[in-house]
Amino acid sequence: MLYAENPVCRLRGLRSVTLGTPDPSISKDFYTEVWGLSAVDEDTDRFWLRGTGEEHHILKLESAPRNAMGGVTFAVDTPRDVDDAARSLEALGIPLLREPGVHDEASGGYSLALVDPEGRAVELSANVHAVVNHEPAGRRALPRKLAHVVLNTVDIDRATDFYTQVLGMRVSDWSEHQMAFLRCNSEHHVIAFNQAPWTSINHVAYEMPSIDHFMRGIGNLKVHGIEPQWGPGRHGPGDNTFSYFTDPGQLVCEYTSEVIQVDEDAWMCRTWKRTPELSDQWRTAGPPTTTVRSAMAGIEDSGFRHLVEPAREDYFLSGASLSGVS
Ligand SMILES: [Fe+2]
Repeated sequence: MLYAENPVCRLRGLRSVTLGTPDPSISKDFYTEVWGLSAVDEDTDRFWLRGTGEEHHILKLESAPRNAMGGVTFAVDTPRDVDDAARSLEALGIPLLREPGVHDEASGGYSLALVDPEGRAVELSANVHAVVNHEPAGRRALPRKLAHVVLNTVDIDRATDFYTQVLGMRVSDWSEHQMAFLRCNSEHHVIAFNQAPWTSINHVAYEMPSIDHFMRGIGNLKVHGIEPQWGPGRHGPGDNTFSYFTDPGQLVCEYTSEVIQVDEDAWMCRTWKRTPELSDQWRTAGPPTTTVRSAMAGIEDSGFRHLVEPAREDYFLSGASLSGVS
């Protein structure tokens, strides 16, 4: 589907994700006391957590009736890029949840939020508050930043069209016609779409600085009595290591490391077969547990579509009509 002739902006990277869950304070305790993030700010039922890298926060937890993705935030270079994007989005009939402006939340900055065809909020932000990189000198297993977010989609082709045409992302690889891995910088993927019966969040991956930190992180969780639900292993597409866990709210979190860095001029997109040896090159992971499979399927999430009015009638996708699930 043609959404746009030209992208509305140039994304510099993935900054953060917002997750809604019924009891965010229990999840916050898990992410700060076990997973390796640090709290930077909080109010009544919202928590902003950072990694050791230079983003103000990489995870925002907020209260929601059921698990949901509250939004995903990408960096653009300047406030002017945000304004230019807003004008282009308006011309394309793509709805805005929030007009461009100074954002009064914890990280500050100048941003807008658009709503994608499955109701997800996508924030474009510049000039957020700087924080000092606080990577520890030793080998403590602390995530540095977000590596990627995987999103379940009812229409993988239309999701991919939207994020490539409108947001300028590039497809790095396909996993048959089941998953699409998209990049916006040299990282092999910062977003991946997974074809599914309904729209939901599949998982959020956190980058460990090295494979040693990755293994130490898994060990640290084991010490806390938390076993991997799938992993450790090494994926084919992206070549990154993986180990998946479920948080106290049954949202899936992943430690990863060593994702491929793409040379933009030389990269050839390929379609991977979904075989056990390409799903896990090491053959150490075994099958995912039924718990993590069900958590990855997530809960149907209509997002913010009820809050906005797109200019085009056919803009929003309906999971129910495509899947027969109501
Ligand atoms: Fe992942």
